[in-house]
Amino acid sequence: MTGRLTGRVALISGAASGMGASHARAFIEEGASVMIGDIAEDAAARVAAELGTQAASVRLDVTRLEEWEAAVAATVARFGALNVLVNNAGILDGGPLGTYTEKQWDTIISINLTGPFLGMTAARDALVAARPASIVNISSAAGIQGVPGVHGYTASKFGLRGLSKSAALELAPHGVRVNSVHPGGILTPMLGAPQDAIVDRAANPLARLGSPAEVTPMVVFLASEESSYCNGAEFVVDGGMTAGRA
Ligand SMILES: NC(=O)c1ccc[n+]([C@@H]2O[C@H](COP(=O)([O-])OP(=O)(O)OC[C@H]3O[C@@H](n4cnc5c(N)ncnc54)[C@H](O)[C@@H]3O)[C@@H](O)[C@H]2O)c1
Repeated sequence: MTGRLTGRVALISGAASGMGASHARAFIEEGASVMIGDIAEDAAARVAAELGTQAASVRLDVTRLEEWEAAVAATVARFGALNVLVNNAGILDGGPLGTYTEKQWDTIISINLTGPFLGMTAARDALVAARPASIVNISSAAGIQGVPGVHGYTASKFGLRGLSKSAALELAPHGVRVNSVHPGGILTPMLGAPQDAIVDRAANPLARLGSPAEVTPMVVFLASEESSYCNGAEFVVDGGMTAGRA
């Protein structure tokens, strides 16, 4: 532990799995206290138990404002404050226009875009009270460039990129910075790809998928005051995928 997050208290949505669990582990290692909020309650409790007494878990469906309010209250009650919010929970689906349904659209927008909006709404006052504070919104490379057949996801992640900027402009005078992170293809349960998945070098110059551990340092940086002059910006962690075609 190097203490880069000593004294910080974070609420991370969707931290029962994948990248969120990796972020939670690193936050604890860097001295933070972490509330894991996830709809997968048992998995969230297991991750919190593994991480020790500075971690706890709470049921959180990011589409419900009252669950966000309860998660923020639980974080402040348990750890005394809230100065980092990581909007990480998300889902992925796709399908060509004509088959991709309005129900699928509504569901993914409500989790991936309305979820972070509700999270920022519920956490705003606690974050301002605990300033300096940081919101890290996990968008995607699909929030930088289009992905064929992945309409709801792409729209939600572009939306989250924009929402991060409007919130950053509004909250800066109140001591809260807001940035978005844009991972490329990362080996998590969401992607469901094998560890040795082959990636065409024309699509990604590093010709491989990334690991959660390669995204987490960016999230730690943005959560900490090392990033005190970073605000309203996009932080891409994609092996060069969005740089152009190799
Ligand atoms: N894996 C990738 O390649 C990739 C790339 C770019 C961006 N992302 C983004 O990173 C974030 C984390 O993804 P991951 O790959 O670790 O996925 P994951 O599937 O491993 O984890 C997602 C977590 O979100 C939780 N979740 C889903 N719906 C929820 C809801 N309504 N309320 C609360 N929690 C909910 C799940 O239970 C799960 O624990 C997502 O926002 C995803 O869109 C992933």
